[in-house]
Amino acid sequence: SNAELHRRIEAAREKLGERAVILGHFYQRDEVLRYADFVGDSFQLAKAAKSKPDAEAIIFCGVHFMAETADLLSGPDQAVVLPNLAAGCSMADMADIGSVAACWEQLTALFGSEPDDDGRLPVIPVTYMNSSAALKGFCGENGGIVCTSSNAAAVLEWAFERGRRVLFFPDQHLGRNTAKAMGIPLEAMPMWNPRLPLGGNTAEELPESKVLLWNGFCSVHKRFTVAQIAKARTDFPGVRVIVHPECPMPVVDAADEAGSTDYILKAIDAAEDGSTFAVGTEINMVNRLAAQYPQHTIFCLDPVICPCSTMYRIHPGYLAWVLEGLVRGEVLNRITVPATVAVPARTALERMLAARP
Ligand code: 13P
Ligand code: SF4
Repeated sequence: SNAELHRRIEAAREKLGERAVILGHFYQRDEVLRYADFVGDSFQLAKAAKSKPDAEAIIFCGVHFMAETADLLSGPDQAVVLPNLAAGCSMADMADIGSVAACWEQLTALFGSEPDDDGRLPVIPVTYMNSSAALKGFCGENGGIVCTSSNAAAVLEWAFERGRRVLFFPDQHLGRNTAKAMGIPLEAMPMWNPRLPLGGNTAEELPESKVLLWNGFCSVHKRFTVAQIAKARTDFPGVRVIVHPECPMPVVDAADEAGSTDYILKAIDAAEDGSTFAVGTEINMVNRLAAQYPQHTIFCLDPVICPCSTMYRIHPGYLAWVLEGLVRGEVLNRITVPATVAVPARTALERMLAARP
């Protein structure tokens, strides 16, 4: 029962004390997040993993790529635990290292790999945090960097100082929305379909490109539509529409603002009492905000429930199981990035942390 699970989790936490720290992403369900020592967006969680050197174990209530990142940034003797190993991310799975390496080979054949007269490389690879550690390692090895939804513009600036163009993966929407806001024309953002030669482009059009967009997307955020925004504006005149930049470009364009999960939280927190918000992001977060800010009217743009189904796989039962394991001295579901990947992946992450402290 829930009461029994609650008792078990609290008992294990009590026994573990400072030895274990629980991190949770904003999209996590409330029944799990109530036990988190720190809650944040993916950028804040990466920094949190780096700043808890005394904990023997970091229990990551998020998805697999976040746990890998925590392993990369935490100390060598700290164990990162993902309570349910099936908590992946469908977007991260859309770019595998084999396809990205094959893409890179074609781009290198077309553009070479030498810097031009201003010292800029032909292509800089940029991976969204929502990707495997192998892709972060690929970026680290090839002059590239990692970004999150809260620092994508700063990271693209970093990349354009060092390269003529960017290969951005896996999320086409974050890449397009960010580059568009920086004034890059849509014609200079061809999409790369890994199943087609040259990603479905011609050798003539690629040299004109500024941002090559991998064709990945988030299945939660692609559900939001311009029609939902129009309806919210009709039903609630004066509504503020805030969406996550993983939403398709027409949705971001029709919204009042777009930003990371932490941006959304801060915007709502800073608003005058009695404000109305239509939010385009994951439902567990939106419902929590609605409960935490009863002085506002807050609702999800999508009337059909849209959870991140993989995040939802972290059930309190798994949390109890891994915590009790730690009490017995057993580390269950440890996430370890092999050293060959970890070294360059850390380089790419450290570049990100330095690009925006
Ligand atoms: P942020 O927490 O960086 O906004 O990312 C949202 C997300 O989709 C995480 O997977
Ligand atoms: Fe992945 Fe989308 Fe879930 Fe984020 S919300 S973890 S991008 S599937």
